[in-house]
Amino acid sequence: MRTPLIAANWKMHMTIAPAVRLIEEVKAALGARSGVEVVICPPATALSAAGHALAGTPFLLGGQTMHWEPKGAYTGEVSGPMLVDVGCRFVIVGHSERRLYFGETDDAVGRKVRAAIECGLTPIVCVGERLEERQAGRTDAVITSQVRAALQEVPAGALQRLVVAYEPVWAIGTGQTATGAEANRVAGVIRRTLAGPGKDAAAAVRILYGGSVKPENIREFLEQPEIDGALVGGASLDVQAFAAIVRAAERRAPG
Ligand code: 13P
Repeated sequence: MRTPLIAANWKMHMTIAPAVRLIEEVKAALGARSGVEVVICPPATALSAAGHALAGTPFLLGGQTMHWEPKGAYTGEVSGPMLVDVGCRFVIVGHSERRLYFGETDDAVGRKVRAAIECGLTPIVCVGERLEERQAGRTDAVITSQVRAALQEVPAGALQRLVVAYEPVWAIGTGQTATGAEANRVAGVIRRTLAGPGKDAAAAVRILYGGSVKPENIREFLEQPEIDGALVGGASLDVQAFAAIVRAAERRAPG
């Protein structure tokens, strides 16, 4: 049985003081969670303060991206060991906004995934088709090729460390979502792609849905057998909405 995971992607929002305030509110709203893993991914400048605010709680810290090298002449970049240093356990890799606005390629995503695993971080690998790809009937081909590229440098024994987020690009920040059934179908495509030869661990990989997740629609996704949680953008900045999403996942948690 896979432990449900709800991850908050704050994107480029929150300076330090409001970030710490939001974490204090999340702590007060949720108390000690059981059965659901909750990961909060603030922007890089707030990671350290957020890490202190999360210390001693069951909530975990994540970065929003990282470089594939541990250090070097890469102005402006943050490495995996630097994320570990501020207390991160997770890192989002290959978000569609990074692919779209910063030219992040499948190849770069593959290197980042390997580098994350090497330094002990759990990568939350984002995949998703654009609207024109869906309309052209290419959804499954796009997803399969993004998953294969993300996996290409992952040692077979490390596969179960991965988390994959299916985020249809047309559903991000638009208020539109995939139906639960369609998200479940694509999650199945992802799991079958992970389950290549010698990769039995695919059954243990958690697959999240992301794209306009709200308290009103989270149940539709959580009730799908292939979906193990959500990657939440906008609604994660609202403490009541985020807490409601985590509580919904808790009701689905095993035991
Ligand atoms: P929204 O929840 O704001 O649509 O964002 C989804 C997302 O991109 C999470 O990574």
